[in-house]
Amino acid sequence: MILCRTIAELKNELILIKKSNDNATIGLVPTMGFLHEGHASLMRQSVSENTASVLSIFVNPMQFGPNEDFERYPRDEARDLAIAKENGIDIVFLPDVKEMYPSKPRTSVIISQLTERLCGASRPGHFDGVGLVVSKLFHLVQPDRAYFGMKDAQQLAVIQQMTDDLNIPVEIVPCPIVREPDGLALSSRNVYLSAEQRQQAVVLSQSLTLAKQWMQEKGITPEELLARVKAKINEASQADIDYVEWLTYPSLELPAWNEPIAAQSGKFILALAVRFGSTRLIDNALFVPI
Ligand code: PAJ
Repeated sequence: MILCRTIAELKNELILIKKSNDNATIGLVPTMGFLHEGHASLMRQSVSENTASVLSIFVNPMQFGPNEDFERYPRDEARDLAIAKENGIDIVFLPDVKEMYPSKPRTSVIISQLTERLCGASRPGHFDGVGLVVSKLFHLVQPDRAYFGMKDAQQLAVIQQMTDDLNIPVEIVPCPIVREPDGLALSSRNVYLSAEQRQQAVVLSQSLTLAKQWMQEKGITPEELLARVKAKINEASQADIDYVEWLTYPSLELPAWNEPIAAQSGKFILALAVRFGSTRLIDNALFVPI
């Protein structure tokens, strides 16, 4: 495994791979580090589908709001490198902020509509920062495939839209959410939780599982479903709902609100963002009414 801290080093390594094999395919797994099994599942999928896999680790300041956790975002370089190696990554790209942003960028990547709701509404500017850094990574690595988790379902939809709109020649590969045994979706931010908050945080995945059952009830509407999910989350005493939304996926539009779910066709997402103290967790599930 090779560690590249600069763009020049990264480009050299990529040239060597292409030189040694004309048909080499490159997989890219973009992350902000503090790696866990969710990230590892993306790495393994990339390794299984490509000649060489690049893992990027970069806590991107452009996607954090002024009062968010950029400074305290968890970092552990040595551990991350060990996990990357264990999972078969060929190149780790680990630039510092100056390498990625030698000066303040004057180009914005704004993906409209898809960013109006959910995390786009709660975190203004967040997806502009994601769009900018991911398009930079796509240009730097020029991957054949790039791997994104369904944990961040809105991010995945936004990146797919950006890729289509700009004809970026990369296949976006969605990967399933990896969870703890009790259902909590793995997240680098889970380390912020106190023992009590950690126990209560299981309510996110529990409410998604319950929603799957409730959805089977004849005549249930999105309005009723969301009311029940919110009530369930509010039972966890420290839970503070940021949003609970039922939208079409991946277009992220409001579906018919008062019509029975069973009468609606298409794919829907139930997406949650809940705060436990200052820690904001997200989770979601996809639903296809039958
Ligand atoms: P980060 O939060 O580190 O996540 C990196 C990738 O891992 C994302 O595609 C995310 O969806 C995926 N991931 C995180 N937790 C997961 C889980 N429990 N199961 C499956 N996949 C999971 O998302 C970002 O970084 C950044 O916004 C980034 C795309 C790197 C741009 O800076």
